[in-house]
Amino acid sequence: MNKINLEMASNGDSDFLFYLRNLPETYENSRNARPVNKEEHKNWLLSIIKNKEIFLYVIYCDDNKAGQIRFDKMDEFIVEVSISVLKDYWGKKVAETALIKGIKEMRGKGMERVIAEIKRENFRSIKFFEKNGFTKFRENSEFFDLEYILKQPSSL
Ligand SMILES: CC(C)(COP(=O)(O)OP(=O)(O)OC[C@H]1O[C@@H](n2cnc3c(N)ncnc32)[C@H](O)[C@@H]1OP(=O)(O)O)[C@@H](O)C(=O)NCCC(=O)NCCS
Repeated sequence: MNKINLEMASNGDSDFLFYLRNLPETYENSRNARPVNKEEHKNWLLSIIKNKEIFLYVIYCDDNKAGQIRFDKMDEFIVEVSISVLKDYWGKKVAETALIKGIKEMRGKGMERVIAEIKRENFRSIKFFEKNGFTKFRENSEFFDLEYILKQPSSL
C-alpha cells in the first residue's frame, strides 16, 4: 500500500508543477488548454501561494511528487477542485486517496460543497469524480459540473 500525502505547495515545487502543467494530458484537460511558459508559470505560482482563497497541494506518493490538487474558494462555503496526477500513477488509487484527503482538509476549513468543472470529453475524469461520490448538477456544451456535498447549506 502506497503512502499518499498532501503538502501545501511552495516555490520549491515550481519545477515539478511546471512539468506537470505542460504535459499534454494535463493542459488538454485544463480550461486554458495550451502549454504555459516558465515566466508565466513562476508569476502564476507566486500569486497562488499568496492567495488565501486558493489551496494548492502537491500530492506525494511514497515521498515522490506524483501530482497536484487544488481547491479554489468560490464563496464562503464552496470550493472548486482540480486535480492532475502523473500518468505513471493513474489507476493506482493515488488520485482517489488525494481527493479524499483534500476533501477532508476542506471539511476542516468549514466548506460545505466541492464542485468540479470537467470537459465533456474527459471521460476518465468524469468517471473518477463520479466513483468518488460526485454527481452531475449542471452541463453546457463544453463542460459537466459535478458536486460533492459535505454539508447541507447553512442557510437551510
Ligand atoms: C483525473 C485523474 C486525476 C484521475 O486519476 P486516475 O488515477 O486516472 O483515476 P482512476 O483510475 O482512479 O479512475 C478513472 C476511472 O475512469 C475509467 N476510465 C478510463 N478511461 C475511461 C474512458 N475513456 N471512459 C470512461 N471511463 C474511463 C477507469 O477505468 C477508472 O475507473 P475504474 O476505477 O472503475 O476502473 C487523472 O486521470 C489525471 O491526472 N488526468 C489528467 C488531468 C485531468 O484530466 N484532471 C481533471 C480535470 S480537473
